[in-house]
Amino acid sequence: MTSIRAIKGFKDILPGETELWQSIEQTATIVLGAFGFREIRLPILEKTELFARSIGEATDIVEKEMYTFTDRSGDLLTMRPEATAAVVRAYLQHKIYAQDPVQKYYTIGPMFRRERPQKGRYRQFYQINAEIFGVASPYADVQLIVILVELLGRLGVKDAKPHVNSLGCPACRPDFRRALLDFLASREDRLCSDCLRRRETNPLRILDCKVPRCRETSMDAPALEQFLCAECRTHFDTLQQALDELAIPYFIDKRLVRGLDYYSRTTFEIQTAALGAQSAVAGGGRYDGLVQTLGGPDIPATGFAIGFDRLAEIVAADRQATTAVPDVFIAALGAAAQARAFPWLTALNRDGIAADMLFEDKSLKSLMKRAGKLGARHVLIVGENELAQATGQLRNMATRDQVPIALNRAVAELTRHLADGT
Ligand code: HAM
Repeated sequence: MTSIRAIKGFKDILPGETELWQSIEQTATIVLGAFGFREIRLPILEKTELFARSIGEATDIVEKEMYTFTDRSGDLLTMRPEATAAVVRAYLQHKIYAQDPVQKYYTIGPMFRRERPQKGRYRQFYQINAEIFGVASPYADVQLIVILVELLGRLGVKDAKPHVNSLGCPACRPDFRRALLDFLASREDRLCSDCLRRRETNPLRILDCKVPRCRETSMDAPALEQFLCAECRTHFDTLQQALDELAIPYFIDKRLVRGLDYYSRTTFEIQTAALGAQSAVAGGGRYDGLVQTLGGPDIPATGFAIGFDRLAEIVAADRQATTAVPDVFIAALGAAAQARAFPWLTALNRDGIAADMLFEDKSLKSLMKRAGKLGARHVLIVGENELAQATGQLRNMATRDQVPIALNRAVAELTRHLADGT
């Protein structure tokens, strides 16, 4: 019979990797906590309409990548392809804005997009999201970039570089859109079929098409920056000045239009060469109109999402895989020794000591082999003789030294010796 494998693009994160994921998560929550973010946990399933209305009907995500199905009562549901829309939904549903519109949230969890799987691109992937509501100032955007730089720095990621751009606002973007379409009008024959379609639905996306011919064609396209209205210009200038002031190097990337429709003004990505083709380890930007689009008041917002899988891949490349090593392995020989030793093992584990034991009747040789395989730092040997003399032997596996352990006080003595490192 053939064995069942995971679905294509869905992967397991195994022990050995999970330790790294935990430590990244811990660092992220510490950094985010220091910047005033609090955790929000959200459902994985939402009404399809939430994503269609926020991410945009004409985006790749909504057009072709969502896992959408009708449930048994006929509701159209979608496995979330991103978290921002759901965070806004919760912010509105619980009328959090009515108590205080200024909120900073983070959320960590799986997202689902039916993209073509490759290294760094999965169909179930994880994100660390941070969202700030109620702050229109570009300093909020800068804060988000600072958090990303700080977090990646703490994790030892060396070549992470923020790319920034401004997409303008509903007042100035239509002018740019028109100028872009004028520019493309005489160059239709040089666009790929996707871009020809995008011209009608989402012309800005032509700027970040990866097809070399399209990239070449759009090289001399007008830059959005030249079309910014006075408010958007000041916003973008202030963002750059603040980054300069903090001595954070960045790159102004006029192609940075992002794949979701809700952005206005600032967009940013953190890119690194370590990832090859999937160069963005994090992306985000301002989405001032989204709260209103989803039926709420006119409240500005900005945020980012880190690709957790990609971040873990970069960090893992520099770190050794970890293994869980027991501090002590109890080599209990025979049923009587096992019965005596099992409560000791349980007490040690309950006290937070990494202790292990094999629940099988094995020879001393094979128990020692097992302890060696686990990399145990100490082995407590308890056989018939030790039981008779009420004294076991604790062997330090590195030094080969042995110390006697009084078995009627086994847990206390083991704890003391392990703490001493003897
Ligand atoms: P996004 O650019 O679609 O933005 O995703 C953010 C990050 O998630 C990407 O930079 C990448 O690292 C990771 N990512 C995306 N798709 C995949 C995939 N298929 N496999 C592995 N990693 C992936 C958003 O999702 C926005 N909601 C970010 C945001 C928050 N904007 C404002 N607030």
